[in-house]
Amino acid sequence: MSTGRSHPISGFSKLSKIGKIKWLVEHFFRDPESVMRELTSYWHANEEQQKILDGISENTISNYHLPYGVAPNFRINDRMYVVPMVTEESSVVAAASAGAKFWLERGGFRTEVLGTLKKGQVHFLWYGPREKLEALFPELEIRLRSESAAHTGRMEERGGGVRRIRLLHMPAVEPGYYQLDVDLHTCDSMGANFTNTLLESFAQSLTDFVESHPSFSLEEREVVIIMSILSNYTPECLVRAEASCPIDDLGTFPNGMTAATFARKFELAVRIAHQDPYRAATHNKGIFNGVDAVVIATGNDFRAVEACGHAFAARDGQYRSLSDCRTEDGLFRFWMDIPLSLGTVGGLTALHPMARRSLELLGEPDAEALMQIVAAVGLAQNFSALRSLVTTGIQHGHMKMHLPNILLGLGATEAECARATAWFQDKTVSYQSVRDYLLRIRQEAPTLAGRS
Ligand code: MEV
Repeated sequence: MSTGRSHPISGFSKLSKIGKIKWLVEHFFRDPESVMRELTSYWHANEEQQKILDGISENTISNYHLPYGVAPNFRINDRMYVVPMVTEESSVVAAASAGAKFWLERGGFRTEVLGTLKKGQVHFLWYGPREKLEALFPELEIRLRSESAAHTGRMEERGGGVRRIRLLHMPAVEPGYYQLDVDLHTCDSMGANFTNTLLESFAQSLTDFVESHPSFSLEEREVVIIMSILSNYTPECLVRAEASCPIDDLGTFPNGMTAATFARKFELAVRIAHQDPYRAATHNKGIFNGVDAVVIATGNDFRAVEACGHAFAARDGQYRSLSDCRTEDGLFRFWMDIPLSLGTVGGLTALHPMARRSLELLGEPDAEALMQIVAAVGLAQNFSALRSLVTTGIQHGHMKMHLPNILLGLGATEAECARATAWFQDKTVSYQSVRDYLLRIRQEAPTLAGRS
């Protein structure tokens, strides 16, 4: 291995794929040839597919695989779904499936889209009299709309487009700081490119307007565009998911816990996450375990969804639980409002072969249907996490799911895996306990354990 770490490289992006790998393996790995073989072994067998994957990002040298699982039995507004989930965390798909199954027998999930508005902003500086700009704004708005018509036409044909443009003055940032605050509807696309192109066109129109309008004096003709970009905070692109049943129908729980005790502990767990940000972050992380997995499987932008969800969770100034629970008049109600800006056309949804399959598996949902599916999965995930936490504890199920990974890491043979799986059926799994168990069976009867 040479001293690549201390050598910058120029023109890396211009190297061929093999050239990039060669440079990397020669400079950063102890065994260049085997790393080269390994990296290329993850290339897709179908060259065309690989070309598509390479084109999605830059400096692509290989593929990074994540498990693609499915959670069956999701009943959402009386329609059944098998939901695709991509995640690196064990227990997530199992928990989503368990949550789906639990509610399947109790009426399933009810979901409703509460809004589909997205937002974009042009941030700019202008130092003339505020009233003057405000008075001319209706004229400016007409110009913004007419000069972007070529761009918005197709979106409008589909029922989308600009819903509202406002001029906002925010002197707290700086006396001359303004925003064009734009609400839009992007139909079944997530709409990032549409929105950003539109905003850049607005910025140009704004500049031209201010520079040329006869009402402005010479000094007032200067506008500084700071930036034009969509906002990932879309609290009005909102969906509600709910599951409810009589408390008595919740069933029985481990160690003889009654439905009433479960409901009370569950409601308290949610209330804690409403008051305590330390708990809220973990609680919401559990929700995003499910949300992100479907968002990724359908080729959507999970960073955008997460950023928005966490901002929404802090909308009253304190970070709180996204979900809510009430137990009243013998009824258990569990629900969540979550902003989800998703697309089912355009972007990666059209490019990534598995994203296309995911949407097919879901019955080709439009964006609103996908919002509802994702919200139901988030709620199911949250339900399963809290159910474990307030009954057996999370490690019980989690470590059972993790057992195969521990065994793999310890180099267990197939026979050892089978014995360990049976042994740990009713025992606590930990790395230590599995390692001790393997040592013991290897010492006791090496041949029985499948070793020579
Ligand atoms: C683990 O990935 C997620 C949980 O911690 C969520 C929660 O605590 O609610 C189990």
